[in-house]
Amino acid sequence: ASGDADAGEKIFKKCKSCHTIASPDETIVKGGRTGPNLFGAIGRAAGSVEGFKYSKSMISAGEAGLVWDEEKLAEYVQDPTAYLKKELDDPKARAKMSFKLRKGGEDVAAYLGTFSTE
Ligand code: HEM
Repeated sequence: ASGDADAGEKIFKKCKSCHTIASPDETIVKGGRTGPNLFGAIGRAAGSVEGFKYSKSMISAGEAGLVWDEEKLAEYVQDPTAYLKKELDDPKARAKMSFKLRKGGEDVAAYLGTFSTE
C-alpha cells in the first residue's frame, strides 16, 4: 500500500462514468453501471460481483485464483487487456474495460482500499 488515497479519490472521477462504489446500505460514489460495483474490490476475487456480465477472460482469471490487492489493481488499470493476457498467459485474452489509466494506479488502488474489510 504505497499509494495516496486522497490523490486516488480525485482520480476516481475518471472511473465513475462506469463504476459505482456502494456498500450494502450506502452509495458512496454514485456512478455508471457499465462496470461492476467497486465497493470491497480489494480482497475480492476477480469477476465475482453477482449479476455483472464480465468478459470471459475476467471470469477465467477469477476462477484461476486472481484476488485483487492494491498492487494488482494498480497494474490492471494501466492496461486491463494487457494485464489479463499476462495473468492468463493467453494472447487472445481481452478485458471488457477499455479505459487505461496512465498514471496514479497506486493512488486509486489505495483509495479503493479504504472501502474494503480486508
Ligand atoms: C472492471 C477498476 C475505469 C469499465 C474493473 C475492475 C476494476 C476496475 C478493479 C475489476 C472488478 C472486478 O473484478 O469485479 C477501475 C478503475 C477505473 C476504471 C480504478 C478508473 C481509474 C473504468 C471505465 C470504464 C470501466 C472508465 C468504462 C468505460 C469496466 C468494465 C469492467 C471493469 C466493463 C469489467 C471488465 C471485464 O469483465 O473484463 N474496473 N475501472 N472501468 N471496468 Fe473498470
